Amino acid sequence: MPLKDKVLEILEENRGRSVSGNKIAVPLGMTRSAVWKAVKQLREEGYTITAVTNRGYCLTSDNDILNEPSIYSYLRTERLGRKMDVFKSVDSTNSFAKSLAQLGAVHGTTVIAEQQTSGRGRHGKKFYSPNNQGIYMSVVVRPGLSVDYAMTITSCAAVAVAEAIETVSGLECGIKWVNDIYAGGKKLCGILTEAAIGVEQGGLEYAIIGIGINVSNMIFPKDIEDIATSIRAETGKNVNRSQLAAEILNSLEYHLDNITSQEFLSEYRRRSILIGKRISLTRNEITENVECIGIDGFGKLLIRKDDGSEEAISGGIVSLLE
Ligand code: BTN
Repeated sequence: MPLKDKVLEILEENRGRSVSGNKIAVPLGMTRSAVWKAVKQLREEGYTITAVTNRGYCLTSDNDILNEPSIYSYLRTERLGRKMDVFKSVDSTNSFAKSLAQLGAVHGTTVIAEQQTSGRGRHGKKFYSPNNQGIYMSVVVRPGLSVDYAMTITSCAAVAVAEAIETVSGLECGIKWVNDIYAGGKKLCGILTEAAIGVEQGGLEYAIIGIGINVSNMIFPKDIEDIATSIRAETGKNVNRSQLAAEILNSLEYHLDNITSQEFLSEYRRRSILIGKRISLTRNEITENVECIGIDGFGKLLIRKDDGSEEAISGGIVSLLE
């Protein structure tokens, strides 16, 4: 790890408090002037670090740059996020995580970026991923499950993200099947899960859980301004993105480890904004209006058509009619 990152680690552990140059220099085997140089470098990267004579350096509490030391200070997982890459900019964290998974990346490997230049959503759509305003994160998971459970991984992630956002910001979050997190009637977060099937074992070899959250955006592009929102737009508050990223991993690990107990499904159903509502459902370019009557044990959407017949749906685009 570069020395400046080690300095950052110590400052992060003492966020909001001053640490003397000596207290940083001695454990790292550095001179005090090397510490000063590292602080200068960190400031150039955008960190606000105050320096007060006789008191030392202080990373101010309002710093909100995603970095490993900061995320680790909130992380309580055993495996998720224990191998992590944090980038300033990447084309798509899902694409990067996929290439790592193909090279054998371990369960829990996490890729996070401040910005995506080609963020991807479901159904071939782009995911708006501006610099410093969101969390764009992908987690490689190897849950050792049969293909039947592929959908539940997304539902499990939706519950984990909704819980994490609520814990960190207090914002109440709903889930729109299958993978969108809603607040105030608008979309706050999307999840794109991409799975690879193992040819030999016939089960899931790995899945990439890609999570995109609008955190501090106040302005959105014209094409999504009526349907998108952010944590700040809903609460008026800024949240610490490193804390939010870590909280997602904490919650996701718990729910993935217990995925077969289906405990998360009752939480998913409780948060569902569709159950009991009239919805429009588009599949294979055909749209019909139906009633949403539930979510089954595999995360499929249960619908009742106007002729009274019922069906469990695993794909399609849905929207609320009322
Ligand atoms: C959707 O709303 O349709 C899903 C959006 C998923 C976006 C996330 S951002 C991190 C990860 N990398 C991507 O390219 N996509 C996912």
